[in-house]
Amino acid sequence: MSELRMNEFHNARPAHADELGAERGVAQVDNAREPIGVVLEIAGSGSRIALDITRLTECSTDPDPSVVLSGQVGSQIKVRVGNGWLLASVRSQKQDSRTPGGILASVDFLGEGEEERLTGRIHAFRRGVTMYPIPGALVYPATSEDLRQIYASDGRSVIQIGHVHPTKDIRAGLYVDSLLGKHFALLGSTGTGKSTSAALILHRICEASTEGHVVMIDPHGEYGAAFRNTGVILDVTNLQMPYWLMNLEEHCEVFLTSRGNDRQEDAEILAKCLLEARQRNRLAEQMGKITVDAPIPYLLSDLTTIISNEMGKLDKGRTSAPYLRIKNKIDELKGDPRYQFMFSGMLVGDTMAEFLAKIFRLPSRGRPISIIDVSGVPSDVTTTVVAVLSRLVFDFAVWAREEKTRPILLVCEEAHRYVPNEKNADGSSVGRVLSRIAKEGRKYGISLGLITQRPSDLAEGVLSQCGTIIAMRLNNERDQAFVRAAMPEGARGFLDSIPALRNRECIICGEGVSIPIRVSFDELEEFKRPASEDPSFSALWKNSGGEEEMVLRTVQRWRAQGR
Ligand SMILES: Nc1ncnc2c1ncn2[C@@H]1O[C@H](COP(=O)(O)OP(=O)(O)OP(=O)(O)O)[C@@H](O)[C@H]1O
Ligand SMILES: [Mg+2]
Repeated sequence: MSELRMNEFHNARPAHADELGAERGVAQVDNAREPIGVVLEIAGSGSRIALDITRLTECSTDPDPSVVLSGQVGSQIKVRVGNGWLLASVRSQKQDSRTPGGILASVDFLGEGEEERLTGRIHAFRRGVTMYPIPGALVYPATSEDLRQIYASDGRSVIQIGHVHPTKDIRAGLYVDSLLGKHFALLGSTGTGKSTSAALILHRICEASTEGHVVMIDPHGEYGAAFRNTGVILDVTNLQMPYWLMNLEEHCEVFLTSRGNDRQEDAEILAKCLLEARQRNRLAEQMGKITVDAPIPYLLSDLTTIISNEMGKLDKGRTSAPYLRIKNKIDELKGDPRYQFMFSGMLVGDTMAEFLAKIFRLPSRGRPISIIDVSGVPSDVTTTVVAVLSRLVFDFAVWAREEKTRPILLVCEEAHRYVPNEKNADGSSVGRVLSRIAKEGRKYGISLGLITQRPSDLAEGVLSQCGTIIAMRLNNERDQAFVRAAMPEGARGFLDSIPALRNRECIICGEGVSIPIRVSFDELEEFKRPASEDPSFSALWKNSGGEEEMVLRTVQRWRAQGR
């Protein structure tokens, strides 16, 4: 602070405050009502302030945890403008070389509110700034009472998920409509509590909307345990996803084994034969012209017969290898018990409407969420199964547009596996479907929730389509940089605290909250948690008994391949 400003600043304190402080000890100063610094420079949304180290030290023993933190990176401060207050968050601090003990800090303005006459607190808080302060304006600590006003719901429907850091009792809420209206992403390094937080958020959403429609893709089979009372759990034993729901591209991913030029040829043969097989269905006859992608049931035996017939019509000298390749693969899948959830002979009937009603919870019957546990799906078709399910969500929404729409939330764990960036992409259809939902889903009433520990491995642009970002601790610098790029300007101060977050803490910014906030998630009851408990090695390695039987049972399940 320059000498002049320092004087201004000290003059602004009540004349007797120093004496009071000296007489009764520092803790007696009413920290909330005394400035901790002045504004130095205003520039666009970011500005610089000077903080007084003596005042910060005084604040550090205040009983209010928000006052204790004020001035620190990631904390909030308020600045007087006219009769009101501006709220800002501190982005960075550095030493002021010109003043001994002086601290310079850059801040981002978050919003503004009026002053409550008697108490001096902020009230009627709004996001965004209409009037900036002038240099020399005084900076005060934001108190817990201020924060309570700021985070109080403005009447929109909210779900409560935890409390606002650093307070112990101010509830943190997410605006459901804004959260779901523009997709959301939940990010964090492994073990920070992503799955449990996802379960917490989904539980709260389902409790608030018992007639909701949520589809959760669960690659590790964790969430079944969490939603056994409030959801429908579908895994390979009861999913019964008919193979004929696949479109041509998905059929190719499952039925074709060749690469390069051969694959193109095989795909053409499959397209022709598949269309013919679909046309043999009674439904197709009624409809006249159909496309190869139309979800019309067909018999696998019809498909293989048609392939054999085509092979028989080949001119001399042309190889039958492509036909045999496809036919062999289909026969192999038909006979493999691991693929029965999709290729069982029971699935030839027209069960499409029932299948959609089951996975989209239409009607929800008090269980608004379906957990699709794909952990038992053979790994070579998992991405295709996820692609089919996601595409069904999209296509259903598109074709249901003339109906009274029922929005659907699609949540995808380990999202980097399914919407990978270019470097990790294998060209599979699931990435395209999910990217499309990210870009266009909103128009059709589809909300996407992406959960991942590796945001830098997500396809480019997908993160920026997420209106709300819930970031837990991220240890990797590359991941932090990605999240930073996707977050709005005003959240910078919070962002820098991402590597320092504790487990179960997160930064939320974007549409779902009124201003960026740091939240400690509530403790989730044990029976609502996903089955992802960290094993306690030290405790489990003290137990003994029953090992041989356990190994035998495991071997048996392994051999039966989940049947
Ligand atoms: N809100 C919470 N309430 C109770 N326990 C929690 C909460 N959040 C996290 N935990 C505990 O923290 C541990 C790790 O959580 P979780 O499995 O959700 O992390 P994760 O980020 O999903 O990890 P991974 O990347 O390995 O999937 C678990 O033992 C979980 O029970
Ligand atoms: Mg997890």
